[in-house]
Amino acid sequence: MKLVILGAPGAGKGTQAGLIADRLGIPTISTGNLLRAAMQQGTQIGQKVHSYMESGKLVPDELVIDLVRERVGQSDCQKGYVLDGFPRTLPQAKALSSFAQIDAALSIEVSDEEIERRMEGRRICTKCQATYHVEDNPPKVAGVCDRCGGPLALREDDSREVVENRLHIYHEETEPVKEYYRQEGLLLAVRGQKKLADTTKLVFEALGISL
Ligand code: AP5
Repeated sequence: MKLVILGAPGAGKGTQAGLIADRLGIPTISTGNLLRAAMQQGTQIGQKVHSYMESGKLVPDELVIDLVRERVGQSDCQKGYVLDGFPRTLPQAKALSSFAQIDAALSIEVSDEEIERRMEGRRICTKCQATYHVEDNPPKVAGVCDRCGGPLALREDDSREVVENRLHIYHEETEPVKEYYRQEGLLLAVRGQKKLADTTKLVFEALGISL
């Protein structure tokens, strides 16, 4: 299955993408994680994107499109993949259609107020990028990743001011991508629930996957 996950920053795309990918045995491709890894490693791309990401702006289309085109061509993507955070502009959606045949685009719908609450409590593993929430999805040991034992931290772009900017950009630039997939007959929409497990149930039902 080749799947796109859409939704505002903090809607739960990464969380659900990870669960779907584990269930189907296919990789998750998160453009946010690829770009953060490039910054950590200090690559040329990482240096180019740092100022965009820390202020919550989208990085230039060409750069992300090339990154995804190259990643989906790798051998572990032959059976499918879950795209998390891509496409988020119309040019990205159109470019994706030119090199991949997507089976469905799943949108996770969450209000802006709930997004702001979630971002304040989000913690990510600095080693493997797994995502937690201090109240809704806490790790077994506070501050330590369940998966790899790495230290958990706040993300650089999760401050209130940057989150507001990311939400604004989402409404302006990424919501039209939903309409694009609606017209293609590929859009599935699920309302994000207060409890993570309830959202997962709706997501798996919408995709026709057993839990
Ligand atoms: P990116 O890393 O993609 O960030 P984002 O889209 O803003 O999304 P997030 O990762 O913040 O949230 P999420 O929806 O995955 O939610 P999560 O599962 O963590 O992008 C970062 C930056 O990179 C961008 O600003 C841009 O600069 C650049 N970039 C990336 N892709 C790009 C592209 N294609 N084009 C241009 N630029 C690009 O969940 C959030 C929190 O809520 C967690 O703590 C989680 O535990 C909790 N939670 C999740 N679900 C629930 C639930 N149902 N109930 C309660 N809590 C929940």
